[in-house]
Amino acid sequence: MQICVLNGSPRLHGNTAELLKPFVEVLQQSDVTLNNYTLVQMNVASCKGCYHCQDVQGEYGCYQKDDMHTIAKAIMESDLIVLATPIYIWYCTPELKAVLDRFYGLAKFYRSAKGNFVEGKRVAILATHGYDAAYAADPFVIGIQRMCDHYHMRYDGMYSVRDVDDLASFQTKQAISGAKEFAQYLLNKKA
Ligand SMILES: Cc1cc2nc3c(=O)[nH]c(=O)nc-3n(C[C@H](O)[C@H](O)[C@H](O)COP(=O)(O)O)c2cc1C
Repeated sequence: MQICVLNGSPRLHGNTAELLKPFVEVLQQSDVTLNNYTLVQMNVASCKGCYHCQDVQGEYGCYQKDDMHTIAKAIMESDLIVLATPIYIWYCTPELKAVLDRFYGLAKFYRSAKGNFVEGKRVAILATHGYDAAYAADPFVIGIQRMCDHYHMRYDGMYSVRDVDDLASFQTKQAISGAKEFAQYLLNKKA
């Protein structure tokens, strides 16, 4: 099994990174190939909406030569993609949104090229937020569920923890065991 974790938090040692620690620890202890990307350390430009990728057959095809090509390759090879993000104004951060927009070339639905490199892949969310989970994260969850419908991917759920006391909220026994259990649940879930 191959897993791609995309951390969209701009804070290298922030809440989302803290919640990812126990989650990733469980993945690392199992028999998976893990690609773990901290997006703020990478260079992913925004989608320019040119549709060039939709005329490139058999490969990702975006003309912008940046780190999205590394991420796209990892996504194409992965069974499961984990979207880790703080909620920023009811959605993910711009770092992760840029990657989600740049998914476009991974499926050829609109012009001469055909095919879908992400069909059947699984997607899960790991989120942190200030408001309670439903109020904070529902818009993002709905967006990702619809993205999964659109790309014929499978949404496998979310684990999230509320930021009530900054880093300490993500260091509680409950937050840590919840992150570990979610990782184990994703590992156990059938493809
Ligand atoms: C610019 C900005 C926007 C935010 N927007 C929301 C929001 O819409 N809903 C929410 O519940 N929390 C919001 N928060 C709180 C963060 O989601 C929360 O503090 C999170 O744990 C930060 O994670 P990080 O340390 O990985 O950046 C926002 C924080 C910032 C800085």
